[in-house]
Amino acid sequence: MTSQNSSQWDLGRFVKTLSYFGAVPLLSRFDWFQQWFGSRPDPTVDSSSLLTSSAPTVEAVNSEAAGVILVVGATGGVGKRVVQRLMQRGVAVRALVRDADRARAMLGESVPLIEADITIPETLTPAVMENVSAVICCSGTRVQPVEGDTPNREKYYQGIKFYLPEVVDTPEVVEYQGLQNLVQAAGELGLTHRAIFDFTQPSDSFKEIWGALDDVVMGGVSESSLRLADGVAYFSGVVSTANSGGFASVRTRNLEPALDLSQYDGVELRVKGDGKRYKFMLRSETRWDGVAYCASFDTVPDRWVTVRLPFASLIPVFRAKTVNVGPVDTRHVSAFQLMLSKFEYDGALNPHFEPGFFQLQIESIRVYRQSEVPKFVLVSSAGVTRPGKPGLNLDEEPPAVRLNDQLGGILTWKLKGEDMVRQSGIPYTILRPCALTEEPGGQPLRFEQGDTLTGKVSREDIAELCIQALALPQARNVTVEIAEGEGGCAVGDWECLFGQVKADR
Ligand SMILES: NC(=O)c1ccc[n+]([C@@H]2O[C@H](COP(=O)([O-])OP(=O)(O)OC[C@H]3O[C@@H](n4cnc5c(N)ncnc54)[C@H](OP(=O)(O)O)[C@@H]3O)[C@@H](O)[C@H]2O)c1
Repeated sequence: MTSQNSSQWDLGRFVKTLSYFGAVPLLSRFDWFQQWFGSRPDPTVDSSSLLTSSAPTVEAVNSEAAGVILVVGATGGVGKRVVQRLMQRGVAVRALVRDADRARAMLGESVPLIEADITIPETLTPAVMENVSAVICCSGTRVQPVEGDTPNREKYYQGIKFYLPEVVDTPEVVEYQGLQNLVQAAGELGLTHRAIFDFTQPSDSFKEIWGALDDVVMGGVSESSLRLADGVAYFSGVVSTANSGGFASVRTRNLEPALDLSQYDGVELRVKGDGKRYKFMLRSETRWDGVAYCASFDTVPDRWVTVRLPFASLIPVFRAKTVNVGPVDTRHVSAFQLMLSKFEYDGALNPHFEPGFFQLQIESIRVYRQSEVPKFVLVSSAGVTRPGKPGLNLDEEPPAVRLNDQLGGILTWKLKGEDMVRQSGIPYTILRPCALTEEPGGQPLRFEQGDTLTGKVSREDIAELCIQALALPQARNVTVEIAEGEGGCAVGDWECLFGQVKADR
């Protein structure tokens, strides 16, 4: 190399890079070999499309198509009906129960069960939320008549006939802490996000998956690595423009099987950088030198930021040149890459690039989903805002309102639980039924907001509403009271009913 901007190129590192990514066999292909050795490559090319399908098998992070509905409180009066109705429709269900034997006797052999107790966070393992696309929560503090209940809880299920009630569990623990555990698990374990790489909890296969892929593949001398320390991955190195180079990157080998991310809307990175502009890429093909889907993102020096990159915004590129192909096929995502490059796209320069040392810290690479429809349906109760409300005529109020204090503040804790769901960021519907009965469903329903409604409603109809809400954008982020009565909509016209109410925010 004679020019001022020339440096000693490292053949060893070149071969090592190709070997890591399983591309060495391709060296025998003369045309490919000559392209990289014989002629100088296009300097605008920062492509490092170096993967083949011969990578080692890695643990699948998310291989199944999503779509299980988790029913919590599946042995309860409403919950068991939700499960039955979903099963009848052939929808994938997972019933969260405290006692699997009892649940099996009640629900039958064919219902997939998972044993957990929402008040015990350790029981809410990743298996509970695996592949869950929505949660219907019908759990509640166990209440029974003071003189005890009948074997099948007929007295408790009596609806509006009054028996003096008592709580069996502590409402604060079930309605608030338990619900909080569930919402947290739902958020963390897949309902809104799914971790692809969580570097705070690195797996042993890290080194088998990630490797450096720098401009050495086209004659450059930039050098980088991805290393782990204290729950953070450090993508760092020195990027140089010598020898017409100018990029450093780290990339995964092809993941086998490829990930199905089609239930998600984009990628979310948690990063701390140095003010430079980086690129994120993913691939849905396994070819060495194929199309990558790319987005640039800016970092703030020494500040953790969350970067959201919608799949729809990713630009298809072939060696940093935009190409006119369709959107990324998120059903088969086979590789991820992070890059610092002198170039943006089609020869344009990265405005926040400087050669020399760089460092990007990464806590996690996750996928996220936004949803137009609710993902968490909570069966709460009418009356939750009424205890202690000035001017309330208690004689006209249902027993739960009158006896709130004796029942361990059950409605007060339900309201706190509701508030937490509303603030969770998960799209929700909160159903507040009036007195629940065992009577047949299919009744005309009345929807109201403002928590003044009284009356009764069948558990059958509430179970159906839980399911219908999941499909209705009008039900998103709505809190609504429900009782039987003329509500201006035909029976079963759920769109009409939810069309009458306003979203909370
Ligand atoms: N009764 C009414 O008139 C009325 C009116 C308005 C609203 N509500 C509310 O509506 C909801 C549904 O009512 P429902 O009659 O279907 O209730 P339910 O028959 O009492 O069922 C409650 C369910 O929650 C489960 N559960 C309780 N604690 C749990 C925990 N720590 N972890 C996991 N699951 C737990 C129970 O499981 P186990 O089988 O293991 O106990 C049961 O499956 C409840 O929140 C209730 O408070 C009731």
